[in-house]
Amino acid sequence: MQINADTTVNFVIGNPVKHSHSPILHQKIYEHVGINAVLLAIDNPDLTALINSIKTLGVQLTAVTLPFKTSILEHIDVCSDAVKALGAANTVILKEGFLHAYNTDVIGIKLALQDVDLDHKNILIIGAGGAARAVAYALKDKQSALFFMNRTQARAKILADHYSGVMVCEDDLNHLDIDIIINTTSVGMFPHTQASPLPYYEFKAHQTVFDLIYTPKETRLLYAAKAAGARCISGETLFIEQALAQVELCYGLAIDRRVCNELLNH
Ligand code: ATR
Repeated sequence: MQINADTTVNFVIGNPVKHSHSPILHQKIYEHVGINAVLLAIDNPDLTALINSIKTLGVQLTAVTLPFKTSILEHIDVCSDAVKALGAANTVILKEGFLHAYNTDVIGIKLALQDVDLDHKNILIIGAGGAARAVAYALKDKQSALFFMNRTQARAKILADHYSGVMVCEDDLNHLDIDIIINTTSVGMFPHTQASPLPYYEFKAHQTVFDLIYTPKETRLLYAAKAAGARCISGETLFIEQALAQVELCYGLAIDRRVCNELLNH
């Protein structure tokens, strides 16, 4: 869509944010659904200045990335239930002068896993940061056993206690019949693409492995899981779904989910 006098501006804010793929992804979505807007990456360490800009310029949609996902909450007027539970937001929408916060990572995680049977399963969550909390929250109503593994065990224990799960270490994995493995750490992300959070694990064909990383599309973890015949889900699906959910929330749309597949294939 051609930029003109009616074009509105959305932001993705972070520090740093220049690596973000969100401007390109949002552009593709806006073109697909016919929204006359652009999403600009604003790199600024001063969150108060960013909030003032959002309000002054009337920025309808702001995608929020590190390190502001938690600190942004002190500027928010209305939080969704997920944001309240997680203490983190990735989306801010300006409505009639008030800032509303959402966490579409939770929505994206649920959609990325929508074709996976999540009930009565043993699910291993690797990592214990904000992304792990979003995964645990997305799975909290499933009738499944959650196992938490993290480099810093104390953080995994806090999550395990909160979500009635079990903290495990790598040695325990050989004795557990894990059905679904979800990596929420940055291990294996570009440029450290040879690293894996489970370098010695023997994957099984019945397993589903979901890696939240989207650069690269096929991480070392997924490569090894695929070689064993496991079902693999890349972080690209989550990345696209969380952006689609942002656009839906902001513009009150219901976007046909086939768009996700089209965007995945480009
Ligand atoms: P996010 O909010 O994106 O989840 P985070 O809170 O910094 O980010 O959490 C990152 C997760 O990746 C943590 O679980 C971290 O482990 P620690 O709790 O021990 O820090 C994990 N992680 C990051 N780098 C890692 C590495 N090189 N090896 C193992 N785990 C790593």
